[in-house]
Amino acid sequence: MFKKEFKITPWNVEGEVDYEKLIKEFGVSKLEDNILERIKKHTKELHLFLRRKIFFAHRDLDWLLDEYEKGNKFFLYTGRAPSGDIHIGHLLPWIFCKWLQDKFDVDMWFQFPDEEKFLFKKNLSFEDTQKYLYENMLDVIALGFDEKKTHFLIDTKHANLMYKEACKVAKKITFSTVKASFGFTDSTNIGSIFYTSMQAVPAFLPSILKGKNIPCLIPLGIDQDTHFRVSRDVMPKLGFYKPAIMHNVFLPPLTGVSGKMSASDKISSIYTTDTPKQVETKIKKYAFSGGQPTIEEHRKKGGNPDVDVSYQYLRMFFEPDDKKLQKIHDDYKSGKLLTGELKEILIKKINDFLKEHQRKRELAKKRIDKFVFKN
Ligand code: TYM
Repeated sequence: MFKKEFKITPWNVEGEVDYEKLIKEFGVSKLEDNILERIKKHTKELHLFLRRKIFFAHRDLDWLLDEYEKGNKFFLYTGRAPSGDIHIGHLLPWIFCKWLQDKFDVDMWFQFPDEEKFLFKKNLSFEDTQKYLYENMLDVIALGFDEKKTHFLIDTKHANLMYKEACKVAKKITFSTVKASFGFTDSTNIGSIFYTSMQAVPAFLPSILKGKNIPCLIPLGIDQDTHFRVSRDVMPKLGFYKPAIMHNVFLPPLTGVSGKMSASDKISSIYTTDTPKQVETKIKKYAFSGGQPTIEEHRKKGGNPDVDVSYQYLRMFFEPDDKKLQKIHDDYKSGKLLTGELKEILIKKINDFLKEHQRKRELAKKRIDKFVFKN
């Protein structure tokens, strides 16, 4: 059977994502077991995002590990363009960064391009982006990053440091390249055309600040890869290393397992600020079920965990225990576990997670200043 056509840009994901096809189209490498073993040598254990291939592809990770093993430590870089509330899908690359920071004891640079979504979205004002910038920073801090080793770069605030470097990148990328890579047309505004050079800067800014080249690792959702596909080749021309990248799949929307949870789709997303009641209602009402239409049929034929959003959220995020997950999988497939019961398991897991996250989010309000880079 043919999969439906899909389209991915850093600003929009449409259709059923075929990750195998993406690996070929983007020219990235599959995250194979041998490289996971290499990581495990240093981390002793593998995060569930690695065990379950939620991070599924990479660029130059072998090189990064070679450098690390030679004593050349890397730094982490990722980001968030403020444009709305944070949903649980956004947390995937960031939770992974926090784990890597702990395991490898490395610095983390987090970019908030507060001009990006202003440029790309029709109805978003600069004032809106500043409100979300504040809210989004709380979510990042709440994940537990080390304040001494984590540095927030805010494009409009750190423009004095970043703009000059972005111009150096921009000078080496043509309009025809960004047109082909991002699907821009002659009616695209000129701010959007320049933007990718701002996203490139944190991949080498720490090298400039330290006065020596430092390897960089960027965990991100695969939709963001294009920015680096365009800018990685420029970096050696400016005298820096190309950054290594690790790509995660998308946490799907509540309504089906093949797409990307997207902050603008209110009913299909679970936000970090949702109340327990909101979580319960959304999951009960919208989470796509792989179960059968009636209890009798479900007991007889069993459910399909592969297409069941509640099961997939447990697999991708909320049930770290492999044995417990396997039991849920088997019980659901055999018909022993009903859709309603599976949903209850997920609701409790998400609400436990959000309770703690929201508590830490409150505490983060007093700590923002410690994270914003001082230059
Ligand atoms: P943004 O703000 O759209 O998204 C932030 C990060 O979340 C990932 N993401 C998801 N991951 C899993 N499941 C989902 N449903 C999902 N939705 C979003 C995105 O891939 C991204 O990694 N231009 C960037 C901001 C940025 C950045 C960076 C991102 C600046 N520098 C460096 C990655 C690396 C943006 O608009 O992301």
